[in-house]
Amino acid sequence: MRIGVLTSGGDCPGLNAVIRSVVHRAVVDHGDEVIGFHDGWRGLLECDYRKLDLDAVNGILARGGTILGSSRVQPAHLRDGVERARGHVADLGLDAIIPIGGEGTLKAANLLSQGGLPIVGVPKTIDNDIASTDVTFGFDTAVGVATEALDRLKTTAESHQRVMVVEVMGRHTGWIALHSGMAAGAHAIVVPERPFDIERLTEIVGERFSAGKRFAIVVVAEGAKPALGSSMAVEAGGTDMYGHERFAGIGNRLAVELEDRLGKEARPVILGHVQRGGTPTAYDRVLATRFGWHAVEAAHRGEFGMLTALRGTDIVMVPLADAVQTLKTVPAERYDEAETVL
Ligand code: F6P
Repeated sequence: MRIGVLTSGGDCPGLNAVIRSVVHRAVVDHGDEVIGFHDGWRGLLECDYRKLDLDAVNGILARGGTILGSSRVQPAHLRDGVERARGHVADLGLDAIIPIGGEGTLKAANLLSQGGLPIVGVPKTIDNDIASTDVTFGFDTAVGVATEALDRLKTTAESHQRVMVVEVMGRHTGWIALHSGMAAGAHAIVVPERPFDIERLTEIVGERFSAGKRFAIVVVAEGAKPALGSSMAVEAGGTDMYGHERFAGIGNRLAVELEDRLGKEARPVILGHVQRGGTPTAYDRVLATRFGWHAVEAAHRGEFGMLTALRGTDIVMVPLADAVQTLKTVPAERYDEAETVL
């Protein structure tokens, strides 16, 4: 069998572990040939690739990022994208393509699959918002980074009697905010799923100081917004070159707002891409490795148009078409468990 693999969209700790696993299972166990496309879909659309053998994946299990490179280029952005991809798959004699990616990548994978290409998808995102899988690799690493930052920020906040407003990633969902906030014992967690009430948030933080506490930690997901009709105005940030929403800097805005309303010093901390960089946790390496292994097996069974997914402790295959329907948002009851405010 000849398999093409690519990593597309925002990078994520564990991508290299999937690539390594695909190569090990395919080349060593099945005697397949594997090629890796450079920079996601761009590599497939421009026929830019290299052969992946055991030497090529040696030592990459614990490495962050992706040895193949990534980009946000999508086949649907080009008029002849699907046709071009189909042509290259035929020219290269590929029997299967394994795209590893998040929401946008899986939508593109579904489009190509419906266009007749032999696709087995692997979900990835630090945001953990792919509906068909219980967890995506990268999430555990990101939560670990954010939690460590929150723990560290507590001591400096306490020394200066400050409010720390820590902005974490989470374009549409608040999983990283929820988990890191719970793990670090944050005093307020603000997520996109529940537009926040600035008056109530101010009250909660203010009550802490009135009770004699010396600091407060607020975790806010980058995609969080104030409730409609709120007295806190946030200007929209517009969209980037791929049509993605640019964030207005909710962490900065909230810190200013809380400082002015409370008369307490507040500092914003934007964790940004540090949450995506560096070595994956053991959990993410294992999950990524299992996804890679199962993707190769699915390809050998001819199960195309499918996606690897974690359900409980098992890896199962789910239809790509189902996986791209909705995002997995934080349910209200999970928020209640955090014993804090949304
Ligand atoms: O989708 C994962 C994610 O990390 C989001 O949380 C974040 O908004 C986005 O990627 C940032 O992407 P970029 O690398 O394009 O800035």
